[in-house]
Amino acid sequence: MEIVPSGKVLGARVLGADLGKPLSARDFGVILGALGRHSVLCIPGQMLEATSLKGFAGRFGELEINVAGTFQDPVHPEVMILSNIKENGKPIGLADAGQDWHTDMSYSATIAFANVLYAIKVPRRNGKALGSTEFASMHAAYDALPADIKARLDGKTVLHDFAKFWDKARAQPGSTRKALTEEQRRKKPPVSHPVFLTHPITGRKVLYCNPGYAMRINELPEDESDELLAFLFRHQLQPKFCYAHSWTEGDVLMWDNIGTLHQALPDYTADEHRLIKRCQVMADRVFDPEFTQQAV
Ligand code: SIN
Repeated sequence: MEIVPSGKVLGARVLGADLGKPLSARDFGVILGALGRHSVLCIPGQMLEATSLKGFAGRFGELEINVAGTFQDPVHPEVMILSNIKENGKPIGLADAGQDWHTDMSYSATIAFANVLYAIKVPRRNGKALGSTEFASMHAAYDALPADIKARLDGKTVLHDFAKFWDKARAQPGSTRKALTEEQRRKKPPVSHPVFLTHPITGRKVLYCNPGYAMRINELPEDESDELLAFLFRHQLQPKFCYAHSWTEGDVLMWDNIGTLHQALPDYTADEHRLIKRCQVMADRVFDPEFTQQAV
């Protein structure tokens, strides 16, 4: 296997991997190390069944079964289907997943470590791939924070709420998302996390706050929290921290949720089909030094 860095703030390609077969311990360590260093890895040319996708993703942590309980592989609910395709008039997947900046599962007591997406259909217009996924580096965003902001935020925590992103997506014209039930809301109460985390692989600090789910800085008065959050949301999405992945069928894209924000670009129409399968890896193992010491 060869790791080829993008040369940009984020991103690398992993060449020579076949995720249809179990990874050797060495290859697992190389991918884990590269994920820490580059945050977004494209592993091109894959042909995967749900079991292989799940098997690969499950090496990195427990797999989440999405709270919405829809558009899951019927046999493997850890594999979620993201798509705008309809069959017999019915959607086969979640059509508007992640279409604004966020960090997956920051609303969860156990946060997400990684996402693993596998592209089966990529929309194209005039030969150009559409529906890219954009990322922002929270290592770089933390490093570039002014010293006085770092001092003001040191030791502070942020409240994250699952319903913030869902309700915003639901309010978009044409959204088919159903209102969350009381039970779904009860299952995902807002949770707090430190605004700065030490990344378990890099050992560097990251800004762990995102416009999708962050509601307020708990220890500050509401107006000060609003002002600082607005500053952080602008700061963290500066173009110099951002990177876009343009998809090709067969790509497996794996990213580190602790050190990035991401969004899916909805620049394609209902007739331009996109089909992606997704597993979400929780951070239940990655904060264990015995796990991270496998990183090469
Ligand atoms: C997501 O936020 O997990 C979806 C990203 C994408 O479909 O590009």
